[in-house]
Amino acid sequence: MLKGKTVVLGVTGSIAAYKMANVASMLVKLHADVHVIMTENACQFITAVTFETLTGNKCMVDTFDRNFQFHVAHISIAKKADVLLVAPASANVIGKLANGIADDMLTTTAMACTCQKIVAPAMNTNMYHNPILQDNLKKLEGYGFTVIAPEKGLLACRDIGDGKMPSEDVLVGHILREIAHEKDLAGMKVIVTAGPTQESVDPVRYITNHSTGKMGYEPVTIFILAPGAFFVLAFLSALQNKFKIGAAKRGIDPSNPDCKGGCASCGNSMCSGKRG
Ligand SMILES: Cc1cc2nc3c(=O)[nH]c(=O)nc-3n(C[C@H](O)[C@H](O)[C@H](O)COP(=O)(O)O)c2cc1C
Repeated sequence: MLKGKTVVLGVTGSIAAYKMANVASMLVKLHADVHVIMTENACQFITAVTFETLTGNKCMVDTFDRNFQFHVAHISIAKKADVLLVAPASANVIGKLANGIADDMLTTTAMACTCQKIVAPAMNTNMYHNPILQDNLKKLEGYGFTVIAPEKGLLACRDIGDGKMPSEDVLVGHILREIAHEKDLAGMKVIVTAGPTQESVDPVRYITNHSTGKMGYEPVTIFILAPGAFFVLAFLSALQNKFKIGAAKRGIDPSNPDCKGGCASCGNSMCSGKRG
């Protein structure tokens, strides 16, 4: 699914760093070329060896390391990246990214990346709700970053609240949404209708069918994976009630309450609608 795609993972100094071994492994299984950049403090939580073993690529920490496989590594890797996911994103790194500070391998590479950048904040709930952090997240969104909202739960510090990094599946889901499919639906607005149709017999009764709506959900799943497309899933029966789609098909102007078919809007010469 991710053959030919390069995913750069940025890992910072948070207890949630352990989850990233699983994320790296899941991405490799999807055939992505995965490169991990850790901050120095991230090395307190997980080792470079873990990521190097899982990805087959050197894990980068020090911008001035001369043993990288790339020439001017932060620029080469930034050019190669199809997506950058910083997870867990510490309050410190979020602050640096939002304010243009590039003083280590991760923040320097992020500065040079032109691909989509995603951050998944993870921290104590008071840190997360700190207005400075919230302002920095808004700033990042303003610069085009995607921010994955943290979940509520029991945190490593034993507090309960917002700040928990979402599961590995959720993180990989965001990467898939970003790069698994071509953006050939970008900018399109799509309405997918699902569910049973209804046809009025008289003002009280209608005939319908046993449709479950499942066929409608299927394209919606595809659209979820098609970034850039704005889609709406509407139940057909609800649409019919709102917009009188069934009536419009029979030539009645749904916006004209007096139209019986045939006014200037509906085109039926027998219509007695007031606007006819
Ligand atoms: C056990 C422990 C857990 C931590 N967890 C987090 C965390 O989840 N989020 C966070 O922003 N900082 C956390 N910190 C603090 C950061 O490690 C610290 O702010 C550090 O400077 C971040 O460095 P970095 O952003 O360069 O990785 C934790 C510190 C310790 C000792």
